[in-house]
Amino acid sequence: MFVQPIATLRRDGDGLIVLDQTRLPWRVVERRLATLEDVAEAISTMQVRGAPLIGCAAAFGVAVALASGAGADAALDHALAVLRATRPTAVNLAWALNRMDACLRLLPHNARSGAAWAEAEAIRAEDAAMCAAIGAHGLGLLRTFKRTGEGRALRVMTHCNAGWLATAGMGTALAPVYAACAEGLGVEVFVSETRPRNQGLLTAWELAAAGIRHTLIADNAAGLLLMRGEVDAVLVGADRIAANGDTANKVGTYLKALAAHAADIPFYVAAPVSTFDPGTACGEAISVEERAEEEVFFVHGLDGEGCLGRLRLAPEGARAANPAFDVTPAVLVSGFITERGVFGVEELAGFLQDVRA
Ligand code: MRU
Repeated sequence: MFVQPIATLRRDGDGLIVLDQTRLPWRVVERRLATLEDVAEAISTMQVRGAPLIGCAAAFGVAVALASGAGADAALDHALAVLRATRPTAVNLAWALNRMDACLRLLPHNARSGAAWAEAEAIRAEDAAMCAAIGAHGLGLLRTFKRTGEGRALRVMTHCNAGWLATAGMGTALAPVYAACAEGLGVEVFVSETRPRNQGLLTAWELAAAGIRHTLIADNAAGLLLMRGEVDAVLVGADRIAANGDTANKVGTYLKALAAHAADIPFYVAAPVSTFDPGTACGEAISVEERAEEEVFFVHGLDGEGCLGRLRLAPEGARAANPAFDVTPAVLVSGFITERGVFGVEELAGFLQDVRA
């Protein structure tokens, strides 16, 4: 069983301890979140990030908010509204908050705090189990992919970070990679930097710690590698999958999907059921988070003395657009890897019906 090297989040009394992902990969720093506002800030500033982990953190955020004994409807409504506003695209956030609401709403006020901790813990444990199941199903899929070179490792390209850091378990897109490596199936990963926030560095950090061979590439190198057939498959995570299969994920995903499609390379999206949004008909209806210009202007890293700092790239007066996600049309998606199995876009409607039943 996969155990997170460091828990991405855990309860600590009436608070929550999270791994601060804005300090990675340079420093491993945990942060205690003692109030609703702390949790909301940690999500919106991306100390806690990745769709499944955002959902888990939001669920714990409700528990933190109610821990003071304030279990009245007004306190519950306030906590749900504050957390719901933190990040708009990852549907796991709304999914987790709706589930907390449904669990708590009909309870007597004095029973809500205990129930909130229990439900948040259940969401966290289920997320870990879903990741493990995605890993097992994805491993079966990886075994079917053709390798372009005789006797060499399977080459997988990924984008952003959909590993253990983004979940309460072993990750989504990286779960099949971890499962394959545990089984001795050689896998090598191409990791795109993922400007502007460079979550690819988180992926590289995870893979290095696990001893998995990987190569960091500038985002713009992906097209050439795919065109040359130097990659056997692309695996990415998702933040929201519309009813027709259009998939929102970290900005840059769409370009990889286009290049993979042009080169006839499989492009799979790995995500738990909580990332599917039957209430959103198609990609055009997905709200794409716009983030601050500063994220484009500055890079973070270590200077020559090993001190952590930020460096301005863009000249004063520059303007930037910073959409955090893009939407890959379903026609470019070879299939979905979920905890319930692997299926193609044409099977999505049936899958959503089964999930609802
Ligand atoms: O903005 P982020 O870093 O939260 O975005 C993360 C992604 O886009 C991931 O690919 C997605 O959330 C899936 S994580 C298992």
